[in-house]
Formats: sequence, C-alpha cells, structure tokens
Amino acid sequence: MCGIVGYIGPRDATPIILNGLKRLEYRGYDSAGLAVLTERGVQLRRAVGKLHRLQALVEAQPLSGHVGIGHTRWATHGEPSQRNAHPHVSDRGQVVVVHNGIVENFLALRDELAAEGAHFRSETDSEVIAHLIERFLSRETGLVEAVRQTLQLLEGSNAVVVMSALEPDKIVAARLGNAGGIVVGLGEDEMLVASDLPAILEHTRRVAFLEPRQMVVVQRDAVHLMDLDGNPQPLQPTVVPWDPVAAEKGEYRHFMQKEIHEQVRGLTDTIAGRVDFEGGKIYLDTLNLTPELARRVRKIFITACGTAYHAGLVGKTLLERIARVPVEVMVASEFRYADPLVGPDDVVLAISQSGETADTLAAMEEGRRKGATLWSIVNAIGSQAMRIAQGYISMQVGPEIGVASTKAYTAPLVDLYMLAVLLGDLRGTLPAAERRRLVADLRLVPYLVSQVLEREEEVIAVARQLKDVRSCLYIGRGINMATAYEGALKLKEISYIHAEGYPAGEMKHGPIALLDEETPVIALAPRDPWYEKMVSQVEQAKARGAPVVAVVTEGDTLIPPLADAVLWVPPTPWLLSPVVTVVPLQMLAYHIAAMRGLDVDQPRNLAKSVTVE
Ligand code: AGP
Repeated sequence: MCGIVGYIGPRDATPIILNGLKRLEYRGYDSAGLAVLTERGVQLRRAVGKLHRLQALVEAQPLSGHVGIGHTRWATHGEPSQRNAHPHVSDRGQVVVVHNGIVENFLALRDELAAEGAHFRSETDSEVIAHLIERFLSRETGLVEAVRQTLQLLEGSNAVVVMSALEPDKIVAARLGNAGGIVVGLGEDEMLVASDLPAILEHTRRVAFLEPRQMVVVQRDAVHLMDLDGNPQPLQPTVVPWDPVAAEKGEYRHFMQKEIHEQVRGLTDTIAGRVDFEGGKIYLDTLNLTPELARRVRKIFITACGTAYHAGLVGKTLLERIARVPVEVMVASEFRYADPLVGPDDVVLAISQSGETADTLAAMEEGRRKGATLWSIVNAIGSQAMRIAQGYISMQVGPEIGVASTKAYTAPLVDLYMLAVLLGDLRGTLPAAERRRLVADLRLVPYLVSQVLEREEEVIAVARQLKDVRSCLYIGRGINMATAYEGALKLKEISYIHAEGYPAGEMKHGPIALLDEETPVIALAPRDPWYEKMVSQVEQAKARGAPVVAVVTEGDTLIPPLADAVLWVPPTPWLLSPVVTVVPLQMLAYHIAAMRGLDVDQPRNLAKSVTVE
C-alpha cells in the first residue's frame, strides 16, 4: 500500500526521498509525489504512474532543500491522478502532509472544514488532515500541538507525516493504528522517517519504531517521542541486522526470481542457531514457550492471509501429526468477525511476512480480547505482529520485495515444523527417538531446495508450454493440498491466468467438469502417504483429455508415463515435502509471468503489505 519517506539533514533531500520511494515500490502504488522545503518555500512535484514519471518531472523542474517528504499512493479515495497524489497542502500553504491509511470520518470532517471556507483540491480523505492542522496552527500553538490536536479528531488507522515552512527545523510523524507503521532512521546529524525499513536502510540501520497512538518530532539532531496526549515517551532504538544489499535485485531480472533462489540461504538461516542436531533438540527462545504453557495448550488457532494462510494449512498437519495438538486454521479476515471459540488455554498464532496486515492484526487483537496466548511468525523486524505477540518466531529470510511471496512461505513451514517438534517434546507427546529423527531430517532441507533450483531450465520448458493457457487447475492431497493452493495463487497473482487449487479428492465432486484439452492440471504427487491416491487422480484427469504436469519424486516410474510434463523433486521426508514441492511451482509462475512480459514484482491491483481491511 502507500509508502512514505521523509528526510531532514545536511544533504539534498530530493534524491534521498526519490531513492527511498524507489525502495518502497514493491508495496504497490499508482501515483507518487514529494515536497521539499526550498529557498522559495515548499515546492511540490506529483505524477501519476510509476516513479520514473516523477523522476522525469523532477529532472525537468528540479527542487532542492534539506527537508522533504515523499509518498507513493495506492488509491483508495479518488482515482489515481496528479491532484489526488500526495503530498497534500493546506489552503494557506503552511502545512504539507503525506498519509497512509483511511480517515474513516473524513466526510464529516470535510463538510465541517468546507463550511469554514476550506478549499479542497483533491478527492482524497488525506487532504482533511492538512486543512485541520492549518486550522489549529498559530504562533502560540505551533506545529507539534496543531498536529496533536488534529490526530485526536481522526478516526481509523492512519500514519501521517507532516512538515511546514513555518517550522523548517522539524518533521512530525504519527501512527494512529495498525494501518502502516512509522519507523525513524537515526543517522549522524540527519534523520529519516519512513513507512518501511528498505527506504532508509542504506542510510542507517539504527531505527526506532512507533507504536500505535504515538507521535514523533524529528529534527536533524534530535528525536522526541510522545503519546497523543503529549506525554514524553522513551525512544527505544534498535539496530536492524538486515543487509541493505538484500533489498537489491543484483544479477536477477526480478526480485521474485532472486527471492526464489534465496530460499537455500533463508532456510539455512532459519535452522541455524535453533537446532541442536547432536541432542536432537529445538530452541525457539523468542517464543517464550514454557513447559507449563506447552502442557496447558488446548488448541492452536492459526490465522493469516493469502500465502501465509497456506503456510498455516501445512502447519495444521505438522502440529497435529507431530505434537498431537488440535489446530484450527482460519483466514484472518474471517477470524476477526467469526466470534471463534477461543479461550485462555488456547494459542492464537498469526503468520505474516509484513507483520502489518490489517486483517491479521485485527485477528490477533480478537485473540487477545478472548484471553488467548498470542504468538506470531513474522518476517519484518519490529513490525506490529512481532511486537504485540507474547512470543514470536522471526523468519530469517531478509526483506521480501516481490509482491508474490516465496521465501516467506517456505521459511514459516520450517518454523512450524520446529515448533511442532518443540511442542511435542515439551508436552511429552513425541517419543525421543522420533524427535531425534525429525530434527535430523531438518539438516537436509536447504540442500533439497537447492536441488530443485538446479532444475530451473526444465521448469522454463514447461512454462513455455503453459504461458498462453486461459485456466489451470492445481491439485494435491494431504500435506500437499496447501501446495496446490499456493501454486495456484502464485500463478494467478502474477500471470493473471485463472488458476484454482483443489483437494484432488474433490475433483469428482464438481471441478472435473472443467477439464478439457485446454485446461492443464498441475498434480502434486510426490512420494508421500497420499501418493497412490494421486496416481488415480492423474489417470482421471488424463481420461478427460486434460494435459497433466506432475510434480513427482525422482525415481518415480508410475506417473511420468501418464503425464505430459514432469517437474522433479528429490526424495524428501514427507512432513517436509511442502517446502520442496512448492519451489518448482514458484519458478513456473515466475517464468510464465516473465514470458508474458508482465510486471512480476508489482502485479496489478496488489500491494505487498495490505494495511487496510
Ligand atoms: C502472496 O503472494 C500474496 N501477495 C499475499 O497473499 C500475502 O501472502 C498476504 O497478503 C499476506 O501478507 P502478510 O504475510 O504480509 O501478512
């Protein structure tokens, strides 16, 4: 969704802001703009479309200064247009605002301001914020107080960053809820403000995150944090371990391709430091899982969206089979309104790459309200889902930039596997010999994934055959049913080809009617406990004339003669097989989308972190 960058310091703000916005492109946007405090006052540049248009505008009409704020907008109120792009300026030009989120009561506020004589130049909800601040701003009140008073009036979940020519020594930023975070980058004699880390990492790794209902006054050499009543709050800077190079494309054509290949390293880091191979033990310190809690847990509710939800479905099998704990998996947008039967002896486990997904955070709040223990598996360091949980597992995969999630899918699968082993151990439901075997199997995972990646050319050949199809069905059973869902999601979100994931056994109850020579079936049929069932599913699909692409284990001799194309995976312990079987599907979706000439990293209508409901 929207991205925000602000800079104050001795350097020219314009290139720093433009570069920061570039690094937030992955979030998804349809217009962009920036405002810089120049010698001639605040100057604005805004453009519809991708950032190169804004860049061209800035080259044609340069602006430079030492304080500025920028924004990439994902339209919610009003079409993507220059006048709806941020920043927005108040009537007398004293206040400049960028905003992320939705001002839910903006209609009432706009009517009130219009009645007082304010002129609105955009259709956005955001513009009311600039007018309101200017309404409160006077020599006595000052910018900080005017922003504070304005924030009291805003309903909804919002992040706001403000500057004013009247007080050129500061930027004021605030976070009102879960819609978009605010992070302050603490540099040497310079400061940055952003919605996300990648925008500032190349300047500093020392950062401080705002909690909801906090605001911050950022000056070149000082940062003052406060709550919305103006009470000072302690600033708690952390040093982010992410390497800024991790947010570069490097030799790859797209971030998604790079991130698919980074899975070997990501999975190695996921396991490192958490597994004692000699003792056959798992350590997940940040989860705060005591033996008492492990024994007390009645049920685990996994809640998440999209790809993270699919990881949760695999997690159900892992936790139930290994730890023998009942698990329910629910899409977060449903969980939050379902009045789920959650109680104090239950755990609500959220999975989220961004840690800022509005539905997932709301589901966590619902769990907290009902007295459950809150856990999360999160990638974005310092994100809300990490901070509000009582315990968390951090994915060790570095920033994921491509909108289509890849490495942030396989890492939580391994995290859930490790959690299942640890829980089973602490609950006494997992015999020691079995535990040692499961832990030993983990060592293989990065290598097995690397084996699949080496077969990329074979995947490209299949992509060539499928790139023009109109519709595809992905089928799987048991632990790889979720792999079918995930494979279909990957294809549809970046190639715009219709794709459905289905439990293979359900085909005869309806979807089989769709099959013909033009509707390929992608069958997940590795050597797992459901393999024999999948052989007959493949036969049924072939009998209806559908071309079949089968994901099968090396050495398989039954399915390849039936299939039109084969994607091989190495023999893998079945509880870990989803980590491996999804990789050819990620590559397949990637190459099909790239062959269709599409914007793989920023597919239409999608945003990397979905901070609105
Ligand atoms: C994945 O490819 C999707 N773009 C999307 O489904 C994503 O997984 C979902 O929006 C959840 O995001 P989160 O992990 O950041 O919470």
